[in-house]
Amino acid sequence: MKGPHIVNGFSKLTRNEKIEWLKVQSGLSEGTMKILNTHLHPDHDLQNIYADISENTISNFFLPLGLAPNFLINGDLYTLPMVLEESSVVAAASHAAKFWAMHGGFHTEIKGILKVGQVHFTWKGSRDSLLTVFEPLKEGLLESVAHLTGRMKNRGGGIDSLEIRETSEHLPDAYQLFVNFRTANAMGANFINSVLEAMATEFKKAMETAFPHSPVEIIMAILSNYTPQCLVSCHVECHPSAFDQISREMSGLEFGRKFSRAVDLAKHDPYRAVTHNKGIFNGIDAVVMATGNDFRAVEACAHAYASANGRYSSLSSAECTDKRFSLHLEIPLALGTVGGLTSTHPMAAAAMEILGRPSSEKLMQIVAAAGLASNFSALRSLITTGIQQGHMKMHLGNILRQLNASPEEESQVKKEFSGRPISHAGIENFLQSERNQSKKS
Ligand code: MEV
Repeated sequence: MKGPHIVNGFSKLTRNEKIEWLKVQSGLSEGTMKILNTHLHPDHDLQNIYADISENTISNFFLPLGLAPNFLINGDLYTLPMVLEESSVVAAASHAAKFWAMHGGFHTEIKGILKVGQVHFTWKGSRDSLLTVFEPLKEGLLESVAHLTGRMKNRGGGIDSLEIRETSEHLPDAYQLFVNFRTANAMGANFINSVLEAMATEFKKAMETAFPHSPVEIIMAILSNYTPQCLVSCHVECHPSAFDQISREMSGLEFGRKFSRAVDLAKHDPYRAVTHNKGIFNGIDAVVMATGNDFRAVEACAHAYASANGRYSSLSSAECTDKRFSLHLEIPLALGTVGGLTSTHPMAAAAMEILGRPSSEKLMQIVAAAGLASNFSALRSLITTGIQQGHMKMHLGNILRQLNASPEEESQVKKEFSGRPISHAGIENFLQSERNQSKKS
């Protein structure tokens, strides 16, 4: 019987063998083969580092590392390293940073640094006897993981609290050990998961001793990426007259009011909120990526936080009175500045150095400022010129590359489209007619 061609032992093949296999499977062109090879790092040791970050590596995937200078955060100036694939985000963040540096900068505050882990289990015995037996067991459970928490304790971290919780009234017999951790400058995923797995084994054993006829079934032991108590807040504020020069059509106060109305729309409409928050993540993800942190964890957590009131809403809020405009962002950010990719990826290590080797708390504040700056820039454009003007200006280079424009054609296009709306189709038509023209002459 004919079926899909399943490959076995793929991970054991060498890079060349994997590429040979791929060539047969998908008929790779010579051009693509060349691209895969030219994107390998020429330094063999460095290439090995990149290859070992993931599995089945056949090449590297580059994204630009850009700099957004002039971030004044609590009185200190930072230059932010940003990695992302979207043009105009770094420029927008830099622009906002410079504006706010001249108006007091970003004010940030750490609201909490707790991380969370859970041991999910099923217990069919009586709820009351579980709760009663847990208190005396607690000390022993903490003791049983002391060999894993000792070093973290020396660095100011460790287990902050341990309790038993019922998971849901809708899920019978489902309970969990709910553990709060402090992980110092580490993101802490490995630390938390190791502690939880050891604790789960010990808990099962202790429960077997206490209730030999009613075993606990451990379902899983894993950190939670939802960390609403690992929280940072960031705000900017100014007199509305600071916006007087932003638009010819509006006074500063009108701009501030329209801005705050735009944020309110995202507070109340989930369709708008998702796009609004995406604009915040333009800045956040870029710095999270540059520093080798886990952007999926950060996104998953903050989107859950944005829905904490039962309806997805804006992560930022704004207010504008005659005398004061303020824009505020509160966001959970579980970040690390030691361990993981932050030290093994050479570019993440470089990003940390660019930031002055921050603590994880400092990085939370920097990342929140990047998010707020991106949010400010996006809304500033949206309520004045629209985003396409700036976006397409930045995108022009990409379009010209896609259309294989020569340097002469580039300057012709720039001249032709200066002050005019830029679109892919418009540039393509213009180049086509210029090319036809020169063929004729
Ligand atoms: C584009 O990357 C981000 C924006 O859509 C954000 C927003 O609408 O607030 C401009």
